[in-house]
Amino acid sequence: MECGDIIYRSTLPQQSGLTVTAPGVSLALAAVSYLWATPGVAPGFFDMFVLAFVERRLRPSYRKEDFVLGKKIGEGAFGVVYKASLAKPKPSNPKGDLVLKKATEYGAVEIWMNERVRRACASSCADFVYGFRESLLKGKGRGEYWLIWRFEGEDTLYDLMKSKEFPYNVETKILGEVQDLPKGLERENKIVQTIMKQLLFALDSLHSTGIVHRDIKPQNIIFSEGSRTFKIIDLGAAADLRVGINYIPKEFLLDPRYTAPEQYIMSTQTPSAPSAPVATALSPVLWQMNLPDRFDIYSMGLIFLQMAFPSLRTDSSLIQFNRQLKRCEYDLDSWRKTVEPRANADLRKGFELLDLDGGIGWELLTLMIQYKARQRTSAKAALAHPYFNQEGLLGLSYMQNLRLQWFRATQKDYSDAAMWVIGLMARSGTESVGGFTEAQLQELRDIQPKKGSSQRNALASVLRLQRKVTRTLNESMNELNRQTKNIWWSRWIPKEE
Ligand SMILES: Nc1ncnc2c1ncn2[C@@H]1O[C@H](COP(=O)(O)OP(=O)(O)OP(=O)(O)O)[C@@H](O)[C@H]1O
Ligand SMILES: [Mg+2]
Repeated sequence: MECGDIIYRSTLPQQSGLTVTAPGVSLALAAVSYLWATPGVAPGFFDMFVLAFVERRLRPSYRKEDFVLGKKIGEGAFGVVYKASLAKPKPSNPKGDLVLKKATEYGAVEIWMNERVRRACASSCADFVYGFRESLLKGKGRGEYWLIWRFEGEDTLYDLMKSKEFPYNVETKILGEVQDLPKGLERENKIVQTIMKQLLFALDSLHSTGIVHRDIKPQNIIFSEGSRTFKIIDLGAAADLRVGINYIPKEFLLDPRYTAPEQYIMSTQTPSAPSAPVATALSPVLWQMNLPDRFDIYSMGLIFLQMAFPSLRTDSSLIQFNRQLKRCEYDLDSWRKTVEPRANADLRKGFELLDLDGGIGWELLTLMIQYKARQRTSAKAALAHPYFNQEGLLGLSYMQNLRLQWFRATQKDYSDAAMWVIGLMARSGTESVGGFTEAQLQELRDIQPKKGSSQRNALASVLRLQRKVTRTLNESMNELNRQTKNIWWSRWIPKEE
């Protein structure tokens, strides 16, 4: 230092780079948890901008001419399904038979969902090979979407359940061998348990990635001979709640035999899909507010019911059951009280099977078939239910067993967090200490607030305000995206050259 230099000493604390503070860490943790909470904003970005991109570069693409169509195996309102094979198979091509669906405009949604599932949870659904939009003849017509899967096997769960031999006709398929037990309730129960476990695993994986199937029924569950497991098919009515695709399928008539009473996966207050950025940003909140996955759980509960009760396996008996349950205000216990005294042998057999081991089967069923979505169990919590405890590891892979143990240990279910958020909202909208219970809140969502109740009116205002904010955000984003709103994601669907 030279003589005459002036030394300035700041009185401010010196900046020493990044300072870690407790509130800062909590905020960062909260942000990270939010980004990773179901349906997963952060994994969604990674999937869309990294995995999807890499996959497109690496996977082979196909054209119409590459396939030879075989016999028709299904025809729905929106597509025809054929067995198919490759015209000129190469060593790198998928081995064995294929299934090809020619679909109308909803094929685009189905391609999107199948590609998402292939990247996130391939073993839950039929093995998807490729999907594209066919080239139009001189630009005429609307064009068809072609979707190709590996042929998983001949039988859907519906086909298997139609047989008088069910569930014994599934035993060697899933367990590899006949159990060392005499024919009877216990043996049947083990087979049903194993099927339910496989179905719930598949469903949980779909839900964890933010996809709700909305058309869960035995006809849409195929037995995969290769992996010896049941897999989910037909994602044409599914909704991807990470980005809001197919939130409301416009013309889809959901199958009334298996749909949950609410009909919609989201509250009717937010009926239309928000634009993609809003849907993505709000997806963890919307998921926890609406619990859309519980829609599929109700359908899965009906499948469980049909597996347990031979007399409820036909369409007409299921329709009759639905009517009776509605009359009992969707209370399964009161349905039981009504029908059990005059039950025939088939019906009694169902009750006996579910009553084994202290009635844990019945308990799980009642957790799945509940009128209110919030009172239904999630797929993850169902897997951790004691129903699957004894001998429970039959028919699962090593990794699935590990995951099952992990679920049991953690019971990872965000419903408690949701309750907490809703509780906070309730408290912030009331003057008195304590706020509302969840039951009261749910009630408030379902019915008009009564005049004269200041607590209820205050809370109703909070909920109205919250809906208004969501609506305003949506509308402004929609305005910005008007031109591209419905087609922004279709650039992800390959087209034939
Ligand atoms: N990957 C697959 N492997 C074997 N069979 C399959 C596969 N995918 C579909 N199928 C068969 O094709 C049928 C129809 O498939 P899907 O449910 O996807 O079409 P859909 O449009 O709903 O037609 P449908 O109304 O007949 O069910 C299924 O019930 C099943 O028998
Ligand atoms: Mg189908």
